[in-house]
Amino acid sequence: MLNKLFFLTVVISVSLYSCDTTEESTSTVKKSTWSPKMDEPSELAQIMRELHEEGLQRKASLEKGVLYTGSVDNLLKMVAATPTEPHMKGPAFEPHALAFNASYGAIQAATAVKEQIDAHNNLVKSCVACHTNFCQGPISRIELLYIN
Ligand code: HEC
Repeated sequence: MLNKLFFLTVVISVSLYSCDTTEESTSTVKKSTWSPKMDEPSELAQIMRELHEEGLQRKASLEKGVLYTGSVDNLLKMVAATPTEPHMKGPAFEPHALAFNASYGAIQAATAVKEQIDAHNNLVKSCVACHTNFCQGPISRIELLYIN
């Protein structure tokens, strides 16, 4: 029973923390020399986890009608951060990251809850836009960040 539970936990965490929804990435021959370590997310994946965590907190706060004041300070590092696999970044990555940054600025600048909700939803849109190009796996989870 415990073993089964452990196995399930591993399977779930593996599927949560990966771009791919298929087995593709593990079954195809890797051209890069990078070898994945389960407990060691890439620099970019680490930034993403913080952004996702912050998005959840901001959503919870705004749904209570409270303006969110926290911020992640490593945003522009996104552009230089090393991804899990090289193909996860391409020429279109940087413009997406810059658009994301602009949306992020609007959240910081918001002075009313309604205004921050709009800015938050815009930001989620730019998360999804970049993910559509580079990392489809987490999209359904990201969409849960939208505030209706
Ligand atoms: C400029 C492109 C871009 C933007 C904008 C972006 N992402 Fe990502 N995201 C990526 C890429 C590429 C990866 C894969 C990173 C890796 O595995 O190294 C990723 C990975 C993730 C992951 C999986 C991390 C893990 O543990 O493996 C989550 C969750 C995530 N992003 C959420 C978000 C959220 C939430 C936002 C918006 C607040 C966002 N992303 C904005 C490109 C982007």
